[in-house]
This record gives sequence, C-alpha cells and structure tokens, in this order.
Amino acid sequence: MKSFRTLKPALLRRELLAASRGRSYSRSFALCATTTTTTQRLRVNNVRHYSSQKSASVGGDGLKVDIAGAKKRESLPYFWLRDNCRCASCINQDTRQRNFNTFAIPADIKPSNVSSTSEGVFVKWSDGHESQYDWDFIQHYVKEDKRDRSVTHDQHYWGAEIASNQPTVSYNDVMNSEQGVAELTAKIQKYGFSFIDSTPHHDPDLTRQVLERIAFIRLTHYGGFYDFIPDLAMADTAYTNLALPAHTDNTYFTDPSGLQAFHLLSHTPPPGVSAETAQGGASLLVDGFNAARVLKKEDPKAYEILTKVRLPWHASGNAGITITPDKLYPVLEVDGETGELNRVRWNNDDRGVVPFGEGYTPEEWYGAARKWDEILRRGESEFWVQLTPGRVLVFDNWRVMHGRSAFEGIRRICGAYINRDDWISRWRNTNFDRKKVLNSVIG
Ligand SMILES: [Fe+2]
Ligand SMILES: [Zn+2]
Repeated sequence: MKSFRTLKPALLRRELLAASRGRSYSRSFALCATTTTTTQRLRVNNVRHYSSQKSASVGGDGLKVDIAGAKKRESLPYFWLRDNCRCASCINQDTRQRNFNTFAIPADIKPSNVSSTSEGVFVKWSDGHESQYDWDFIQHYVKEDKRDRSVTHDQHYWGAEIASNQPTVSYNDVMNSEQGVAELTAKIQKYGFSFIDSTPHHDPDLTRQVLERIAFIRLTHYGGFYDFIPDLAMADTAYTNLALPAHTDNTYFTDPSGLQAFHLLSHTPPPGVSAETAQGGASLLVDGFNAARVLKKEDPKAYEILTKVRLPWHASGNAGITITPDKLYPVLEVDGETGELNRVRWNNDDRGVVPFGEGYTPEEWYGAARKWDEILRRGESEFWVQLTPGRVLVFDNWRVMHGRSAFEGIRRICGAYINRDDWISRWRNTNFDRKKVLNSVIG
C-alpha cells in the first residue's frame, strides 16, 4: 500500500475513498462534494431515488433514513452527523483527527439540502458546510448502536491436543515481511501464542529484534529486554529451580503486559549429569479462555464469582517499590455489555487478601478459585513443551497462562514484554484494510 503521507490531500482523499470501496480511485468522487456537482444533485428538502433500496431526507430532528431491513432508529441526529463529517476540512487526512471545534457549531444546526445517490448521502448545512456520508456509515448507525470493537472473534480454544498442531511462524518471514508479522500476530490472536522457529540463538539481540517487529519492548521495574544467566558459581552446586504453576504475569499492573516472550538460548546440565538425563524445565501453557469456558460449563456459579469478586494484587519484592493496580480486579474480567471474557489475571502468589463485601463471602471465593485451580491442573488443559534454542515462544498474557517444571543446570533465557494496545494495533494494521481498521477504532 502506498504511504498516505506522500500523497497530495485531494489525491489522498480519493485514495482513501477508493480503498474504502475496494476499487480504483478513478471511479470515486471527492469526500466533501464540490459545489458544482452537489448543486446539480441537490433540491431543497427532497429525496433523489438513485437506488430503490435506500434514501435519505430531511426529518424533524434528524436525517430520515429509508433503508430495507431491521432498524434501531428511523433518523440520525443532525448535530451528531455534523460532528461526524469526515471531509478533508473537518478531518486531518494524515492523522484522522478532528480539525474543528465541535462546540463552535450551533447546537440547532439543520440541513438546508439533503440528497442521496447510490454512493452516499450529501448534506448541505444551514451554515453552508457540505458533508457527504458513505452508505456504509449511515446504514451502520441506523441498524446498530456502535461499531464492534471486539478482538476476540475467531479464537480457537485449546487444551493438551494443541501439542500436535503448534502455531508456528518462521524467523525469516517475520524479519523480512509485513506478511510475516501479519501471520505471527494473527496466530497469537487466534491461539493465544505462537512459536517463531529458526531464530538465531548465538546472539540475544536478534531475539530482541524479532520481537520488536511486533512493537517496542515494555519497560518495567525489572527492566526491558532481559537476558538472564544464573551466577556461574551456582554451576558447582546441584542448582535446581523450582516448578511454577500456570499463572499470568503482571497481575499487579493496571494494564498487564499484552505479550510475553521467552527464548531458551542454551541449557547446560549440572556437572556429572548428561544433557539427556538432566531435568530440562519443560514449559507449561494453559489456555485461560478455554479453562474459563470449562469452568462456566461445569460450575456457572464459580465462574460468576471469579468475574465478580475483585481482589488486590501487588508486587512488593523490590526495595522502595510497591506496585498495585488502580483498583481491585477480578480473576476473570468480562465485557459488561457482551459478557465476553476479556482478560485473565491469575497468580496466586501475587494475590492479596480476599476482601469482604464483594457480593460473595471469602469462603465462596475460595470454593470458586479451588475449582478454577483444579481445571488449570488437569492434564487435558496443559500443553507441555520443551523449549529449545532457536524456538522463540510468544504468548498473549491476557489469555494464556504459563509455568514450568523444575530444572537442573544453567538455563540462559532471554525475553520481553510488549504492551497489549501496541501488539493489537500491529495485528489490526497487518491483517485488515485501512477502512476496517479506522472503522473499528473511530466508530
Ligand atoms: Fe511468569
Ligand atoms: Zn466537513
């Protein structure tokens, strides 16, 4: 796709409109209709039937819209329409920001003319401004209240069986093409994780670079990109790292990291232990959305409790730092409107005191959390995988929980966090056309 910034405004407008209609710009017309062409079409308070299915006309307090099918409203408010003019003088075509003061427009603004064609609706306003709206926009808001912002469609929930069909992309594809980034982010969106195979492991900086193809790395009080080698003095002892049950990271942040990545660069067994017999510290992944679905099916009350009871979470291990979210958060956060699960927050070690007065007793919460914990530990929920050098694991920290078994020897692991908003932006922009992306974020 051409860079929008290199195009002249008029051409840009036509490009955008053409892109929005999925055809060449030669057939399209300027977004804000010119006086000549508009006046030819306009008649005072009339309706021009260019299409038998849809038309618009001046109504009492809004634009009357006549279209086929079920409607939520008969008309669209004038002031709302004027505020949503997308013409080149109202919207900066580079930044898509509003270019005018909404509140300088008279609250009682009305059209002096309305006309419609098969392309869209033209409105000439009482203050002389001229606007044009695509039918897609008009129809959407006659039939719906808002744009669908959900990003959880088309998700594939999984259990242990994902071991035989592991989402994977190649390092070269991600490094060398936007299509590779599209594929990586689409797999993470669908499955909650993906491997990046054939990543060089002689230099952790190459892992950092492949992760930065998604978005910049998040800084936290632990630092940014990390490359961890245990103290080599430990190699002389039978150094064992403990198992970690499935959890999400950053439960103590208002906005927990969206992605987390691990790359095992090397694993050296302890002295006297062969690489084959050393405990390798297998990694554990559990699909939290799948586990929540199982919980809801088997014990709807427990699911309800985990979505309703809000808890304190904290990180207090570093001197002078105590981090806690802006408010209490439940384990399972659902969208208040759609009821769709949006985020899992689960690390029993970072959890604070179960409060009273949350609509359920602490005993009820413990009962629900016990059931949740039991589902997470079922063999059918767990995907165990041995990380190997060259295979980067990237997962959605709002959905997929991670853990590991005990390991011996020295593991050198590098990795990073990436913000949720930034990776979802990258997913949108590499997987969907500009029109769809703008509709979903602007409305
Ligand atoms: Fe962790
Ligand atoms: Zn305008």
